[in-house]
Amino acid sequence: MGIVARRQLPLRPAGPDTVAALLDWYDRERRDLPWRSKKRKKADPYGVWLSEIMLQQTTVKAVIPFYQRFLERWPTVFDLAAASVNDVMAAWAGLGYYSRARNLHKCAQVIVRDLGGQFPSTEAGLLPLPGVGPYTAAAIAAIAFGQPATPVDGNIERVISRLFAVRHPLPGAKKELKRLAATLTPHRRAGDFAQAMMDLGAAICTPKRPSCLMCPLQTDCAAHAAGIEAQLPVKLGKTERPGRYGIAFLVLREDGHVLLRRRPSAGLLGGMLEVPSTDWLDDWVPMEPACGGAPVHADWWPVPGNVVHIFTHFRLELQVLRAIVPVDASLTFWADADRCEWVARRDLDGAALPSVMRKVIAHALKVQ
Ligand code: ADE
Ligand code: SF4
Repeated sequence: MGIVARRQLPLRPAGPDTVAALLDWYDRERRDLPWRSKKRKKADPYGVWLSEIMLQQTTVKAVIPFYQRFLERWPTVFDLAAASVNDVMAAWAGLGYYSRARNLHKCAQVIVRDLGGQFPSTEAGLLPLPGVGPYTAAAIAAIAFGQPATPVDGNIERVISRLFAVRHPLPGAKKELKRLAATLTPHRRAGDFAQAMMDLGAAICTPKRPSCLMCPLQTDCAAHAAGIEAQLPVKLGKTERPGRYGIAFLVLREDGHVLLRRRPSAGLLGGMLEVPSTDWLDDWVPMEPACGGAPVHADWWPVPGNVVHIFTHFRLELQVLRAIVPVDASLTFWADADRCEWVARRDLDGAALPSVMRKVIAHALKVQ
């Protein structure tokens, strides 16, 4: 069924008055986030860049403690550039999408080595940096440097699609939404405008039941006037996640060390540590051959219940086998031995372990 308008009020399209109303609302209601400058003050480009990279695929709530820890440990881009990449990966553990951490470190080094520690102030200057795409370049240019750039994230897409009642489905409508957002971007306070749109999308113009009655843009909103706000934006092509399956081997040494394997630096969870496992395949691997592929010869005990983790493109289900081995246990004949290391249990907290592997370890050690 198509979208049927419930009512249609006379209306002027969103324009400069809409922006003024939004900025007034932002001055009253803006979220106090650690990377934001004080009102009308300039923001620190390093903090804006760091926060925008962290926020790329992650919620504000999840980012805040990581952001604070990073700034405490590496207060400037010079400190971050001088850090080891493994320390940065370990500090990133839990945030997900680990290529961001690798690029973050690379980018800090480029800024220090090639640009004297100064971030470029324009979208065009920012775009070539590692890990910086069109969204992030526009966000940094607007928020840190006051350039009239227009970052468009999922929140802003939603608000714009409603404000202008855009019925074309995403992702095809992306260009159109960006163009409409750009028509609203003010020359003064472009950074506040972008962040006001983000805050509005997070607090008021929410995905399922937007609070139009509390919205500062209500009188200018075409979707609200037509009563179709909850049906926008239209999204095409939401497919179900395929499943992947594997067996993870938790090897506990008698002196309390756990065997971990470093993943190849490219690809999913690149460069992070993991509990060694079989490949993750489209179906379950029969148990016997899998044990032949285990990292050590041992009496494997199947830990009851599986670990499930949702990645962007698939759902992973791991069965966990556990074994306790003597201190002189040997991995010599195992193909991946050179990518493995023994990590003391007390050091696991600070290790470069992604959330899915923390789940596997907690699951395996829960039953003693
Ligand atoms: N999401 C991405 N960037 C943001 C910002 N600067 N403030 C709030 N949410 C955001
Ligand atoms: Fe979103 Fe409703 Fe505000 Fe329109 S009036 S921008 S739909 S909250």
